[in-house]
Amino acid sequence: MRAVRYHEYGGVETLVVEEAPEPRPGPGEIRIRVTAAGVNPVDWKVRSGAAREILPVDLPAIPGRDAVGVVDETGEGVRGVSVGDRVFGLGGVTGATAELAVLSAWAHAPAEWSDEEAAGAALASVTALGGLRALGPLQGRTLLVEGAAGGVGGAAVEIAVAGGATVIGTASERNHAFLTSLGAVPTTYGSGLAERVAALAPGGVDLALDTAASGSLADLVAIVGDPARVATVADHANAHRLGVHLANAENDPALLAEAAELGRQGRYTPRVERTYPLEQLARAHTYGELGHTRGKIVVRV
Ligand SMILES: NC(=O)c1ccc[n+]([C@@H]2O[C@H](COP(=O)([O-])OP(=O)(O)OC[C@H]3O[C@@H](n4cnc5c(N)ncnc54)[C@H](OP(=O)(O)O)[C@@H]3O)[C@@H](O)[C@H]2O)c1
Repeated sequence: MRAVRYHEYGGVETLVVEEAPEPRPGPGEIRIRVTAAGVNPVDWKVRSGAAREILPVDLPAIPGRDAVGVVDETGEGVRGVSVGDRVFGLGGVTGATAELAVLSAWAHAPAEWSDEEAAGAALASVTALGGLRALGPLQGRTLLVEGAAGGVGGAAVEIAVAGGATVIGTASERNHAFLTSLGAVPTTYGSGLAERVAALAPGGVDLALDTAASGSLADLVAIVGDPARVATVADHANAHRLGVHLANAENDPALLAEAAELGRQGRYTPRVERTYPLEQLARAHTYGELGHTRGKIVVRV
């Protein structure tokens, strides 16, 4: 099969399009013929070798953590999905940017989502849902999302609004109309955040979710007033130091099904800023690594 791979850790120049062995699904897994795959920060953290202590991979490796496609083989014990079904979901840390990929958690893709949108859904939604669940009930609460214009932050905004929260989101000014379209009240991040948030929410902020890892976690705790009402999906070091909730993406089909249901209801639609052909994955990584993606980057396979 055709795939993008890297044979050694390094920069985008290590990414090559080549023939690779076809993967086979193990028990409880499925294989899909990939139509599009998501591009996520973990892809370059792993590719560069920066994450090799915590997320070691076998080389050569195929980057990509999530994808959408049509089921082409089911592993032993798999129920509720058939060859030919259109699903989106999560595999391992690598493996998605290829013609065939193995998933260990999936859900049927809503007809309302294009392939590009479904490709951007899985990792962002399970991460957003994990962070939001750590914060407890959302109905009637005011939630501050730091990094609200990114893949995870944007998903968190829409899912929290669907859950009945009033959401204030941070982004650079060029993304404020985008945040409004997601249902958030926009403000800028950085110095003076507490004052800007106080002006937007005179009654105070109940909860905060950090998806930016920009070093603002202590500010978020001060704004909310209690580390138990703050969660991060990105700032591991400061989470432990400050005692805030740390949520990591889980390969959990229930979370994917929840995201898909919101998609069917028109309340969560992954926003795709850029789509690249598989052959240009290096360009997709280069753009993503700048750290200012609005929504998601995906590759068409
Ligand atoms: N724990 C897990 O399992 C897990 C899972 C997925 C992701 N993550 C992590 O979560 C983080 C976000 O992932 P992602 O996919 O959402 O990334 P992303 O889409 O690349 O995030 C880009 C966004 O970050 C915003 N941003 C940049 N600097 C900022 C700052 N100082 N303050 C606030 N926002 C800022 C940008 O907004 P502007 O352009 O407006 O600046 C842009 O919209 C990454 O560190 C990723 O590794 C963790």
